[in-house]
Amino acid sequence: MTFIIAIDGPAAAGKGTLSRRIAEDYGFHHLDTGLTYRATAKALLDADLPLDDELLAEEMAREVELAGLDRSVLSVHSVGEAASKIAVMPLVRQALVEAQRAFSKREPGTVLDGRDIGTVVCPDAPVKLYVTASPDVRARRRFDEIVASGIPADYLEILADIIKRDERDMGRADSPLRPADDAHLLDTSEMSIEAAFLAAKSIIDAALKP
Ligand code: C5P
Repeated sequence: MTFIIAIDGPAAAGKGTLSRRIAEDYGFHHLDTGLTYRATAKALLDADLPLDDELLAEEMAREVELAGLDRSVLSVHSVGEAASKIAVMPLVRQALVEAQRAFSKREPGTVLDGRDIGTVVCPDAPVKLYVTASPDVRARRRFDEIVASGIPADYLEILADIIKRDERDMGRADSPLRPADDAHLLDTSEMSIEAAFLAAKSIIDAALKP
């Protein structure tokens, strides 16, 4: 039996960094499920296809190869925006959730991060974390990240984007972003990545104990 760690939360809450750190520490496989939605959206954008045709988007979703997901190419802002638009489509979600569930079964364990891992993709995961932070802390972190990479950024624009993305992710009918009833809440507003990692580790270690 494999051991699944489900990590959900809103955009820029720090769940990606935390998930990678946990996967590395436990020697588990990691899947950032946001990249699967981003890859689907990018395939449509690259082919100049519309973002509102569900059957077309489903077709693209079925072509996504988990092994070929490139974070540096997929992390650009426009792709994230497009991803959150196609992520409202049930057929797209169905196709990607199938691939994500298959991934979650890899031995000896997996860490999946996204919006609906604890609620829909892996509802039986023995550890569920819901990682969050206030919108202004998330916007500030995203701003610092962009500026550190040498690109000018506008803090208020980033904050407005984060609020808009939250509304779309929490407000959609299919698999809205919300903590699973049995998720541990981790508010990282006033926490360093190291502190968040240690908090997560103590929850995971307790669940791993026979
Ligand atoms: O996490 P990331 O910003 O890469 O996700 C991009 C978009 O993909 C999110 O805004 C969300 O709409 C969608 N997504 C989702 N379910 C997931 C992961 C991401 O709907 N499990």
